[in-house]
Amino acid sequence: MKVFITRELPEIAFKLLKQNKISFDYYKKDEPIPRKLLLEKVKSCEALISLLTEKIDSEVIDRMPGCKIIANYAVGYNNIDIEYAKKKNIIVTNTPDVLTESTADFTMALVLACARRLSEGERLIRDKKFKGWKPKLLLGMELKDKTFGILGAGRIGTALARRAKSFGTNIIYVDSNRNQKLEDETAAKKVSLKYLLENSDLLSVHLPLNSQTYHFLNQERLSQLKRNSILINTARGEIIDERALIRLLKSNHIMAVGLDVFENEPFINPELLKFPNVLVIPHLGSATNEARDGMAELAVKNVINVLKKKPALTPVF
Ligand code: GLV
Ligand code: GLV
Repeated sequence: MKVFITRELPEIAFKLLKQNKISFDYYKKDEPIPRKLLLEKVKSCEALISLLTEKIDSEVIDRMPGCKIIANYAVGYNNIDIEYAKKKNIIVTNTPDVLTESTADFTMALVLACARRLSEGERLIRDKKFKGWKPKLLLGMELKDKTFGILGAGRIGTALARRAKSFGTNIIYVDSNRNQKLEDETAAKKVSLKYLLENSDLLSVHLPLNSQTYHFLNQERLSQLKRNSILINTARGEIIDERALIRLLKSNHIMAVGLDVFENEPFINPELLKFPNVLVIPHLGSATNEARDGMAELAVKNVINVLKKKPALTPVF
């Protein structure tokens, strides 16, 4: 067995490996592989394909002396100890681009669902409380002429801005780099973090998770959010201090929050569920057939290249 895969992937992954006559094994249950089994299974692998549900730390890395590549089946790779892999000369790859459009579509869906209070409306009907049309039933926010803030203008942030622009919003963004393409396409303006927080009617988080972005939206920054604004996170839960967010919600400061990711996934803080204006989704950002096939194909192609001593397609360093 040359390649170990921590979960069953779309068929395209297995097809490509077979075509290239590369032997593989994978964990067959549709749940995270138990840690002990992972440590056992990786021992002889030359390539590991991991999911964001597995922590690939120094202990795992030390168990696979023959490993040349860790191919993460995700664009985020905060689940991998990158520095340690680098030290051990193991290539790490992720799956950018192939999930950008799906994730941006999904983020726009959360934006609209929060702005128009879709989950509250749905619950009203399911709870048998819909008594007919009312002038003031579940009034929401129109997007036209609103200020749309993008925190992290990478691939997904840029793809979202394009969508938001088509709804007539004005785009502002924060990123360490100027994004000329984004500015040209959407007339977006790069602003300070303070300006972004204080002026966005809708704010969407698209930062990678790392030591600099852990709890990036802390109590102080969350309290700077514009009153009655909407906050969306489809990046990683740990970027927002969830307890501070709950305090903010208690103070009725913002209109709604849409979360696809959580600090201690899959645990959901029960406090969050008490707020009708919090939309919670079980990490579905890239969950389309197109994106998942693309991710499977890209992860495997990275592995095949490295095993054939060719450069990886999407290395993270
Ligand atoms: C999903 O969350 C990813 O990082 O691909
Ligand atoms: C990830 O693909 C990003 O750059 O947003």
